[in-house]
Amino acid sequence: MVSRARRITDVPRSSAAAPFALAIALALTACSGGVQGKPGASGVSDPYFPKLGNGGYDVTHYDLTLSYDPGTKRLKGTAEITAKATQDLSAFNLDLKGLDVDEVTVGSVESGGTGGEDADARWNRAGHELTVRPHDDLDKGETFRTTVRYSGTPETLTDPDGSEEGWLRTADGALALGEPTGSMTWFPGNHHPSDKASYDIKVTVPEGLQAVSNGELKDETTLNGRATFTWHSAEPMASYVATVAIGTYDITRTATKNGLPVIVAVDPTQAAASKKPLASIPEIMEWEEYNFGPYPFSSTGAIVDRQDDVDYALETQTRPVFPGAPDTELLVHELAHQWYGDSVTPKTWRDMWLNEGFATYAEWLWQEDHDGDTAEETFNSLYQGDYYDDPDLDEALWSFPPAKPSSAAHISDSPVYERGAMVLHKIRQTVGDDTFYDILQGWAAAHRHGNADTADFTAYVEKSAPDADFTEIWEDWLYGEGKPAKP
Ligand code: TRP
Ligand code: ZN
Repeated sequence: MVSRARRITDVPRSSAAAPFALAIALALTACSGGVQGKPGASGVSDPYFPKLGNGGYDVTHYDLTLSYDPGTKRLKGTAEITAKATQDLSAFNLDLKGLDVDEVTVGSVESGGTGGEDADARWNRAGHELTVRPHDDLDKGETFRTTVRYSGTPETLTDPDGSEEGWLRTADGALALGEPTGSMTWFPGNHHPSDKASYDIKVTVPEGLQAVSNGELKDETTLNGRATFTWHSAEPMASYVATVAIGTYDITRTATKNGLPVIVAVDPTQAAASKKPLASIPEIMEWEEYNFGPYPFSSTGAIVDRQDDVDYALETQTRPVFPGAPDTELLVHELAHQWYGDSVTPKTWRDMWLNEGFATYAEWLWQEDHDGDTAEETFNSLYQGDYYDDPDLDEALWSFPPAKPSSAAHISDSPVYERGAMVLHKIRQTVGDDTFYDILQGWAAAHRHGNADTADFTAYVEKSAPDADFTEIWEDWLYGEGKPAKP
């Protein structure tokens, strides 16, 4: 393996100098002969967000060291990204929106060790693409570490559908939310759901505030008026469900009957209203494990902020975020996402209904099992058009098929959620309850900690019930335009 131990000095590193640096690098590449790496792609051709993510490598671990001061609104970060090259690479991209890059180094990671000293890398920025040109080309199959030091005031993004994500400032701190693209506002990375990795997230804040993130708290220290919280996620995580919540929180640690840690962080203004619903987390987890199979992560919980701070919930891994005290249905929904979305993650944003259809169907099943409407009744009400109070909403259900959202602005509309759940109900009607629950559990098991798309799902269902015919369901309910002729 090539050694990456040399540190080069006097490299032009500002973005203004980057085109010059690139020209030199290309000239050097042309002279040196031999097999040369090519730049990795600047996107992974997502049908809805083509420039999201990057080609040529696969991240295995993010080690983020962040410090944030709500007073100055400034974030300072070091992202150490361990990745494996999937092609020979002369350069590769990371996604990072806003913020200033102060230094980038790249070094080889020898198997089992940390490798030699990392070498300064050249970089160049264009939009949210941070192009890194390591001192030495990377070989296909090589594991390498990229360290990016950065700082600045992180941005809030407005999505195609008008909602806000990225770095949200809250009354007492900040909240990082990343669906579908916002995580690039607070750390550089491969921000496409298809590249999942483990994480260590270490956050330093002024003493008196807390920093809550995904996974388990490994360490908590205070020094010179600042508090540092170190969180660890061992299981693979897509960057859109990574989170950091900074502020004043009442933090409670309990456990389920099986000993799974339950860590909840609640804004004190929401504490009274949240007490009862959050106390039902263990019961919901038990019901979901019974129906969906073993829970895929090492802890669970919730983060509750104020409704003024965030106006939607998000299934951030192990610790979903809620806009004020959640009701039971919303808890059921976000916790169901831990199986469907966080553990089994869509290959692209087109496969979003595999998240939302399942999490919505989980709500229907919960109601059915807890003296509410049956899933059949919910399905019928949606089909008849008397589900919503507003006839326009009843109609909007048929505006596009679940597996083909009409555009990025519509990936969180009712055809993805409710009509997605209707697809699952059609499958249940076709195969019967026993096989249907086998499918719910088997699907979660087959792609546990991985990625899957709609074709994987239809193939899985067909294999689970070889004698059934799903042609009409796929054609009319899953991929078909307009309202299916019969329920
Ligand atoms: N996934 C969230 C939920 O169902 C909703 C959501 C938040 C969302 N942000 C989004 C959906 C962006 C699509 C795109 O709880
Ligand atoms: Zn959802």
